[in-house]
Amino acid sequence: MRWCLAVLLAAALALGAVGMPSPAPLRFAQDGRFKVALFADLHYGENAWTDWGPAQDEGSDRVMAAVLDAEKPDFVVYLGDLVTANNVPIPNATLYWDRAFSPTRSRGIPWATIFGNHDDMPFEWPSEWFSPAGVPPVHCPPSTMPSSGCSFRGTPRMELTTAEIHRDVAGLSRSSVGPQELWPGVSNYVLQVLSQEEREDPALLMYFLDSGGGSYPEVISGAQVRWFQSQSQFLNPDGRIPELIFWHIPSTAYTKVAPKAMSKISRPCVGSLNMEDVAPQEAEWGMMNALAKRPSVKAIFVGHNHGLDWCCPYDELCLCFARHTGHGGYGDWPRGARVVEMSEKPFSVKSWIRMENGSTHSHIVLDLGTSR
Ligand SMILES: *[C@@H]1O[C@H](CO)[C@@H](O)[C@H](O)[C@H]1NC(C)=O
Ligand SMILES: *[C@@H]1O[C@H](CO)[C@@H](O)[C@H](O)[C@H]1NC(C)=O
Repeated sequence: MRWCLAVLLAAALALGAVGMPSPAPLRFAQDGRFKVALFADLHYGENAWTDWGPAQDEGSDRVMAAVLDAEKPDFVVYLGDLVTANNVPIPNATLYWDRAFSPTRSRGIPWATIFGNHDDMPFEWPSEWFSPAGVPPVHCPPSTMPSSGCSFRGTPRMELTTAEIHRDVAGLSRSSVGPQELWPGVSNYVLQVLSQEEREDPALLMYFLDSGGGSYPEVISGAQVRWFQSQSQFLNPDGRIPELIFWHIPSTAYTKVAPKAMSKISRPCVGSLNMEDVAPQEAEWGMMNALAKRPSVKAIFVGHNHGLDWCCPYDELCLCFARHTGHGGYGDWPRGARVVEMSEKPFSVKSWIRMENGSTHSHIVLDLGTSR
């Protein structure tokens, strides 16, 4: 009984039904569509003490602004690695975290965040900061050490999300710290998108999962699998509502469907970048099996690999990479964002990649399997 109650409460919390004043529900638009832009791997905050770090952060601001103005999405998903915390030596991580939202916030678009492996990493002191005597010079004033945050400590996931929610006076953030039993994974929650017509009838469920990394291993735990199963049973017992999944680090299933690195991407895969091997999670503890068993789950979207932007089928699921959006992080492939557009009736999913310069490519209509 208590267990049931906990599940109910977690579901209610995840849907923003209790606690803080609920923001306006997400809903399919009048034209029956709901469009999501995925901002992956922004990597804000690199080398703030040089010219190139701040310059590339401005580049990331520009990419997001260009995509938002061209696409006018209804929602934005920040797909992890918003900041390169191993390069942020000050309590500024929450400032960079907040900056990542500014183009979206200024356009009044709601968003959600999930964690990548860099967001809560501890600071790695650049070796050139150490004098020959082994003392760190000016970048970190000795008088303020170590409690000012000028230390090796990263900013915990919980602190980043809590700061995000606190600063969100406009009520645009839909992020949540997730149920306590899944900590240290934090970004585990569900958002529903309501039907264009029926007032309270959900027409799409978006599940966000924390795929780890940084302060703990890069995995989706068995506890998260059980959480997904209970949430989806509770919210969508007959599988009538289509479901989409978002996390940061590709599961090992991605390695099975991946076109050989550096080769041309050919059907049934669709994409333009295939410049590296998939860097998967450390283990697979049942999440893919749970997802593949649910016909209502249509696709998974991940970031993490900056040199990949394809979608490939896996059973009846579609496994997609986003597109490296930030000017931070490795790789100098042109920046862009994956856009995912759903139609409510009949349900369909289209996706494409919108580049910083305004061009689009890699259009795909997800094959949702007539047999499902
Ligand atoms: C950290 O934030 C403070 C206050 O906004 C700012 O003056 C400083 O330049 C920032 N430092 C870095 C490294 O970003
Ligand atoms: C935009 O950038 C892409 C590379 O991503 C390039 O192929 C294309 O030609 C560019 N288009 C324009 C209009 O500059």
